[in-house]
Amino acid sequence: MTSDDPQLRVSKIRNGTVIDHVTAGQALNVLAILGIDGTGGEEVSVGMNVPSSRIDGKDVVKVEGRELSQAEVDVLSLIAPEATINIIRDYEVIRKTRVQRPNAVVGVIECPNHNCITNAEEPVESEFDVLDEGIRCRYCDTILREKLAAQIRA
Ligand code: CTP
Ligand code: ZN
Repeated sequence: MTSDDPQLRVSKIRNGTVIDHVTAGQALNVLAILGIDGTGGEEVSVGMNVPSSRIDGKDVVKVEGRELSQAEVDVLSLIAPEATINIIRDYEVIRKTRVQRPNAVVGVIECPNHNCITNAEEPVESEFDVLDEGIRCRYCDTILREKLAAQIRA
């Protein structure tokens, strides 16, 4: 661990997850996907438009004491296809994985169709098939293209 790294904008974390190489501008949507709005007391650091060699600029989200579910990572991949998920234990990166575009996403995203069964009073969990041009609700076939971030569950 190098504490004198001039490139380090956001402190290193001890235990938790660093979501790195996030598409610039998507950090707040990443927090929404993780259900983090600050009220839960989570220890979170966010870097926006941080210079990066691999991409023009990137966002970085660091969450102490938290690992991500596969469902969360699947949705992340849709808004941050270049992201890497780094699991940190005792300040060391013990696992680094690239997100992968999944075939389907379950939960996390709400169907924009108010009449969809996934929005009913006793809702069933949302499920979308991932297509090249967007995602499609398995229940009502509504296709969601650019507006995906707005449909992240509150
Ligand atoms: N990191 C952190 N806290 C730690 C260890 C790492 O916040 N205790 C962060 C680093 O700042 C970096 C990311 O986790 O943003 C990945 O760390 P590392 O693999 O050491 O960096 P790079 O080699 O630059 O990663 P990559 O090759 O994925 O760009
Ligand atoms: Zn639907």
